[in-house]
Amino acid sequence: MNHCATPAAHRDAQHLCASAALAERGRALVFDVLQYGQPVRAFALRFDGKVVAYINRCLHVPIEMDWQPGVFLDADRRYIVCATHGAAYEPIGGRCVGGPCGRGRLTPLAVAEIGAQVYWYPSADIRPVPREVPAAPGDNP
Ligand code: FES
Repeated sequence: MNHCATPAAHRDAQHLCASAALAERGRALVFDVLQYGQPVRAFALRFDGKVVAYINRCLHVPIEMDWQPGVFLDADRRYIVCATHGAAYEPIGGRCVGGPCGRGRLTPLAVAEIGAQVYWYPSADIRPVPREVPAAPGDNP
């Protein structure tokens, strides 16, 4: 089990997917979150057995990085590489290791695997997108 959250935090856990849905160095799961109240995409992938998740935003230019939806790793599957200008990031920790991303690192989301399911944990800055509540019968549009 890859567990990085306290039991109290688990009450806020946001279900992402079954563990089996994230293959080792495979396609990432892309999902929507709110960062500082603004909608952005995040992604989760498995690397060396560990699930990691980051905001899908390059440090060079604040745009999404995937080559195709959910494809973030280079051909050798060693680094997360931005499709636009090739900035390379370590999958574990998100540190920039090459290209025009400077000395920073990707913005991480806390994740855990519990009971063969993957969850992410909101923070003060990164929140889940509110679920739409279906209109009740008789509600006016
Ligand atoms: S936008 Fe990612 S490397 Fe330029």
